[in-house]
Amino acid sequence: MSESTTTVVADEIERALGGLDFDEVKKTYWNQNEFIHLERWLPAAIVERMVAEVERVRPAVHRNYIPRHKKGGSVSYYTLVEQAPTILALYRAPAFIRFLANVTGQPLQPCPESDPHSCALYFYTEPGDHIGFHFDTSYYKGSRYTVLVGLIERSSSRLVCQLFKDDPGGRPLVELQLATHPGTLVAFNGDKLWHAITPLGEHEERVSLTLEYVTDPSMSAVKRLFSNLKDSFAYFGLKTVFAGRARTVSR
Ligand SMILES: [Fe+2]
Repeated sequence: MSESTTTVVADEIERALGGLDFDEVKKTYWNQNEFIHLERWLPAAIVERMVAEVERVRPAVHRNYIPRHKKGGSVSYYTLVEQAPTILALYRAPAFIRFLANVTGQPLQPCPESDPHSCALYFYTEPGDHIGFHFDTSYYKGSRYTVLVGLIERSSSRLVCQLFKDDPGGRPLVELQLATHPGTLVAFNGDKLWHAITPLGEHEERVSLTLEYVTDPSMSAVKRLFSNLKDSFAYFGLKTVFAGRARTVSR
C-alpha cells in the first residue's frame, strides 16, 4: 500500500472524526442497542477513491444465490488486499479502529488475514438481489462488530434494521429502513442487530463495503471449517476461499 494512500485516508478520517460529537455518538450507539448510523459521514475524497476501486475489482465479482435467503455478488478481502488500497487503508486506519473501540467499549482489531469477509464488497446489480434477515454471527472466540459503508446507491433497496430484536430486557422492537448513500456509515454489534437488504428493482444498483472487527480473532478448527464452507457456498466460491486462504497463510 502506498504511503500516500495511507496518509490521505488517515488525514480524512481525522477530519471526519473531528466533526463528530463523540459523546453523542456513543450515547446513541448504546441507546440503540449497539447500533449507529452516520449519514454521508465519510469525506468525498475517500469515497471517490473507493468507488474507483469498486470499478477496478468489478470483473472479480462472484455471484451467488441461496433460495429464499440471498442473491447477489461479492468481492473478497483476497482481491481487495491486492487491488483496493484505499479500502484497505480505511479498514486498518488506527484512528478509525480506535474510534470504533471507544464507541463499543471493546478492544477491536481487524480479522485475521485468512478471513475473506474481513473487508469485502457486496454487489446488488440484478433485479431481486437481496439478503434475508440475519445476525452477523461471530465464528471467532470473540465478538464480531460490523461496519457497513455505502458506496453506490442507485436503488430502492433498503437496509432494514430491527433494533432490540429478542432483547432480554424486553425493550420494544424498533425498525429502521435506511438507504446507504455514498459515505454513509453504519456500525453495530453483529449479535445484536437483526438486519436484511430488501430486493433490488429493475435497472438499479447498490454496492456496499463491509468491514469486520473482532475482540478475539482465535477460532476453533470446527468453526473454521464451517466458516470456510459457508463462505464458499454463500459468498465467494470454493476456489477463492480455499486458494486465497492458502495464499494468505503462506504469505
Ligand atoms: Fe449482515
